[in-house]
Amino acid sequence: MLMEKMTMESRSPVLRTPRLALFVPTDADRADVARLCADPQVMACFPRPLTSDEADAWFERIRAAHARDGFGVWTVKVLSAEGETFAGVVGLARPAFAPERVEILWRFLPNFWGRGYATEAARSVLAAALLPDREVLKGTGIELSPDLAATLERLGLEEIVAFTAAVNVRSEALKARLGMTHDPADDFDHPALSPHDRLSRHVLYRMSRDRMVKMSTKRRD
Ligand SMILES: CC(C)(COP(=O)(O)OP(=O)(O)OC[C@H]1O[C@@H](n2cnc3c(N)ncnc32)[C@H](O)[C@@H]1OP(=O)(O)O)[C@@H](O)C(=O)NCCC(=O)NCCS
Repeated sequence: MLMEKMTMESRSPVLRTPRLALFVPTDADRADVARLCADPQVMACFPRPLTSDEADAWFERIRAAHARDGFGVWTVKVLSAEGETFAGVVGLARPAFAPERVEILWRFLPNFWGRGYATEAARSVLAAALLPDREVLKGTGIELSPDLAATLERLGLEEIVAFTAAVNVRSEALKARLGMTHDPADDFDHPALSPHDRLSRHVLYRMSRDRMVKMSTKRRD
């Protein structure tokens, strides 16, 4: 039995997968996101866990990005007969040091690691962002809200990147599991960190629209 608080959501998810629902964050999620960002295991590959003020500021930036762009970081809830349980966040963002790109990012509570939830959530975001036609998604187990589909269609993304500190083995494994491609020539030292920092070296993975189309066609065959 999960110890996390379970809630019955009245708001509609923007994305649904067989086991998960993704929501635009509201004030009701603020404490869960702060708990996530304060967890030393979750934040092991970041400079340090966030204080509640820092988590609050991150939460406000997430909310502002949704209001500005119509997409962003979504909260992920695990669905069960008892209700919906907060497991983490997954989403799309424009990196501060490369705002012309769109990255996918993820953070899950340790209780939810090793169960394929991050893969399931991230795969749905990649599919929705690169193939936002709801007809195309039929049969994939992914349901996309009409509003988000319209936003992502207008955006017309050709590629999504994901980057992480090279020491973040679990996050890199997730990128590979999603079928993202990696060229070591793309790896870089993070511009906001000292080159001697243990987190400085970053690996960069990509998923193109063409590759996503090929992967989804193969999965349906
Ligand atoms: C990165 C992160 C999201 C990866 O989470 P994860 O639990 O390793 O990834 P998944 O949920 O996809 O789980 C995959 C594992 O679940 C297993 N699994 C169990 N049930 C499964 C199922 N039904 N379907 C798929 N996989 C399943 C897989 O075999 C795999 O096992 P393995 O790790 O032994 O190979 C998580 O470690 C995290 O939140 N880290 C902290 C935050 C962070 O560093 N974010 C990235 C910053 S750039």
